[in-house]
Amino acid sequence: MEKRVIPVKTVERLVLYKRLLRDILAKGESSLYSHQLAKMANNTPAQVRRDLMMIGYAGGTPRKGYQTQELIDRIIQILDESKEQKIVLVGIGNLGRAILSYFSFQQPGFTIAAAFDSDESKTNRVIAGCRCYHLREFAEKIKETDAKLGVITVPAQHAQQVADMMIECGIKGILNFAPIPLKVPDNVFIDRIDITMALEKVAYLAG
Ligand code: NAI
Repeated sequence: MEKRVIPVKTVERLVLYKRLLRDILAKGESSLYSHQLAKMANNTPAQVRRDLMMIGYAGGTPRKGYQTQELIDRIIQILDESKEQKIVLVGIGNLGRAILSYFSFQQPGFTIAAAFDSDESKTNRVIAGCRCYHLREFAEKIKETDAKLGVITVPAQHAQQVADMMIECGIKGILNFAPIPLKVPDNVFIDRIDITMALEKVAYLAG
């Protein structure tokens, strides 16, 4: 199945299911029912069944439910996570360093292969296990790492220029932390994380 035919919201739920299923497996539960997964994921059993049908998973039985490991394997196969995903990060400031530290504890499936900054004092060194280079080395290093994903943690006014450079060097997916919408061509997927917007949503829904 082509990755692109799965709706973004379904992909988000699959990623969540995978994480929950791994937790379940770590607790020794080798099978579970759709209503249990739905409860943990905060949605409905019907939604879980629809999502699993969409990825062609037919391994469950009414008596035993789904096989946890089998379902994890199927989601991994669909999300094409069989190989380690290489990431490059641009902007080694406060946020960039926090992300590098987080990933130094081996997040399964992802490695930050290199980080870049325009400030010489932050480059030519290793931070949280990650090699940090000057921006001018970007094109050369990206070829060596073969990274296809990029993370942007530079100030807003530089973010578009960084995205353009990433795309020119073959990056296919970008996670943008800068508080500005970026323009990318149709063949590149971009997503944005904004803690302020997320908090505004939580504050509104809580109040
Ligand atoms: P910072 O000022 O500590 O770090 C920014 C880094 O980017 C610096 O190391 C600087 O040298 C580098 N830089 C600037 N222009 C560059 C360029 N053209 N190419 C390469 N490197 C460049 O800032 P901080 O606090 O780390 O924030 C970074 C970005 O993340 C900002 O856009 C900020 O608004 C955003 N942010 C987003 C959050 C979110 O929830 N999405 C939370 C916190 C910050």
